[in-house]
Amino acid sequence: MKSLSFVATMIVVAVSSTMVTAQDRGESLFNQTCVACHTVGAGRLIGPDLAGVHTRRDESWLIDMIQSAQSLIDEGDTVAEALLTEYDGFIMPDQPLSVDDIRAVLGYIALQRGDASAVDEPAVEVKLTDLLPDNIQLGQDLFVGRVRFQNGGSACIACHNLNTGDVMTGGSLARDLTDSVPRLTRFGVDAMIANPPFAPMRVAFEGKKVTEQERAAIVDYLQFVDANQDGTEAQNYGAVLLQYGLVGIAVLLGFFFLLGQRGSKETVNHTIYKRQIKTA
Ligand code: HEC
Ligand code: HEC
Repeated sequence: MKSLSFVATMIVVAVSSTMVTAQDRGESLFNQTCVACHTVGAGRLIGPDLAGVHTRRDESWLIDMIQSAQSLIDEGDTVAEALLTEYDGFIMPDQPLSVDDIRAVLGYIALQRGDASAVDEPAVEVKLTDLLPDNIQLGQDLFVGRVRFQNGGSACIACHNLNTGDVMTGGSLARDLTDSVPRLTRFGVDAMIANPPFAPMRVAFEGKKVTEQERAAIVDYLQFVDANQDGTEAQNYGAVLLQYGLVGIAVLLGFFFLLGQRGSKETVNHTIYKRQIKTA
């Protein structure tokens, strides 16, 4: 009798400890591979809020979808096609996870359902006036590679362009980031840098984590760039031409070209910054 209850206890212990590890694995997988595009209960990012997704869809569909949204779309799955339309044609990249790993992630998502507080909590809104010029400057320096990342990751400009006169033209491998903050939210951009979900970017930062402070500076800079992009300045374009003249602009361009990556220190336009702060 005693030995029987001992065995029973051992089984309970063994089962509950595998449950705990599965849950931990689910959480860490989610934070490594999904968090840049999804929240559970805190709203839409690049992809849908996954709160309750296990009640909306069946498990085999979820496994297929997560492993390869593209294949489901190719097969003409109507749900996947509707999602694709809803998300402006953005196809979730294939997630190279085993069925067990996906079950672990879904388990983690299912456990978050009681967390209603996350839904009600308003997103932390950072006003333009709260941004510090020093942080914006650091963000720009890191973005263009004037200051190296502490852990040695590549400068963002190698792959991404910004629509702003302040920096040289960036790479065209990846999307232009001018409006990334309003599009993905500050949280989304931060998560994207902390855990890049796209292969080329993931490789660039493999084992070279961008620190929290560096991420915050870049997010500040990107928010600033969005508010001061060329489009916003368009009304002043005529005045700018009068001020500098076309020749002046050509000379300036040549100058920046020669300076290359070693450009001057104070390149975030502090006049623009101050004007922005006054009007914000
Ligand atoms: C690069 C961004 C990105 C990453 C990373 C990503 N997803 Fe997605 N996901 C999307 C987008 C966009 C959609 C909706 C549009 C589509 O792809 O059809 C989506 C859709 C989904 C859906 C369907 C939601 C519904 O309402 O039916 C599930 C489930 C899902 N993702 C789970 C995951 C999980 C789990 C991970 C991590 C293992 C993950 N995604 C990683 C962007 C992403
Ligand atoms: C080696 C190239 C490379 C580097 C370096 C790189 N990225 Fe990316 N990044 C990509 C690719 C590829 C994508 C996904 C495809 C796309 O968005 O065009 C991406 C996507 C993104 C996205 C999501 C874009 C969107 O709106 O869908 C953000 C935000 C981002 N990167 C920010 C950064 C920041 C900030 C840095 C510097 C810390 C950086 N990236 C460095 C290649 C790179």
